[in-house]
Amino acid sequence: MSSASNVSKITELIDKLESKRILPKSELTEIISGHTPETDEYLFTKARAVRERIYGKDVYMRGLIEFTNYCKNDCLYCGIRRSAKGAERYRLAEEQIIKCCETGYKLGFRTFVLQGGEDGFYTDDKIVSIVSGIKEKFPDCAVTLSIGEKSRESYEKYRKAGADRYLLRHETANSEHYSRLHPKELTLANRMKCLADLKELGFQTGCGFMVQSPYQTAENLAEDLLFIHNFQPHMVGIGPFIPHHDTPFSNEKKGSLEMTLLLLGMIRLMLPSVLLPATTALGTIHPNGREKGILAGANVVMPNLSPKDVRKKYLLYDNKICTGDEAAECIACLGKRMESIGYRLVTDKGDYKE
Ligand code: 5AD
Ligand code: FES
Repeated sequence: MSSASNVSKITELIDKLESKRILPKSELTEIISGHTPETDEYLFTKARAVRERIYGKDVYMRGLIEFTNYCKNDCLYCGIRRSAKGAERYRLAEEQIIKCCETGYKLGFRTFVLQGGEDGFYTDDKIVSIVSGIKEKFPDCAVTLSIGEKSRESYEKYRKAGADRYLLRHETANSEHYSRLHPKELTLANRMKCLADLKELGFQTGCGFMVQSPYQTAENLAEDLLFIHNFQPHMVGIGPFIPHHDTPFSNEKKGSLEMTLLLLGMIRLMLPSVLLPATTALGTIHPNGREKGILAGANVVMPNLSPKDVRKKYLLYDNKICTGDEAAECIACLGKRMESIGYRLVTDKGDYKE
């Protein structure tokens, strides 16, 4: 195909994605494999218009509290997997977590995201106590949990304790691909079951995946988009895969900025109301990664609110940014960055808008 006719084919598919909110797998794959800088600009302009129709120029912020880097799992990509012997492990006490929220509240955060490895030390009772403690002290704030696969009963307890949202990336919607990224105890079927439970229990639910993780094909990405369309999540977290030195994937290639931005734009067209973060991983692979993410259709940022001394220990991948502008203390810098691209960081719970 000549490049002019490729561009017009891809822009036609982008129009169709916008009006139908989904395309057949072959056409999603065609966009993913055939996009160019020119078609990307076309997509991002549309994606911004869609997000501005619903969320205006507001960018929501979430305070990320990484409260434990112990993990019983052994995902091949992850720097805090149980076999990563180099990881210096830590756990935050309930009082430390509450302190982080106090700091965050003063800075304008109205959502706290508690993220951690799958760590049996935090029993359901402990999680319930932490969640209800935060909700009691900060009734005007949302609590998001991101603590992995649990039983439906456990999720129900968290929900009753007041947790509002739950993030559980599906990682890849292709079960063969899933099994190349995870040890055999972890299955895509169980991940999907957890996601279905979370949604049924009334959580604002987030799924998501890594972009260009090892063995991922363009078809696999199309399958991720089809899954997202079927699941209709409230939030979608995506970021480039980045190798970690202490994992089996240490020598694999990292995901690209371009591919991540493309997928953010496509997801915005598919789910106009979705809460879509420009992630830390995106900020890690490019100095202006998060701004570019916002300009591609994202509407959320998640600065690090963890105590400073643990931030470098919660290392899912190498070179993670966590002490500069992306950290919660430098919310003013982040605000300026957003203003420089015509958006504004807001003090708001930032709930999903129907
Ligand atoms: N590169 C990028 N993202 C990663 N995650 C875990 N390890 C990596 C890595 N090496 C992502 C996973 C997980 C989320 C918390 O972080 O998608 O769900
Ligand atoms: Fe902890 Fe994957 S290594 S959940």
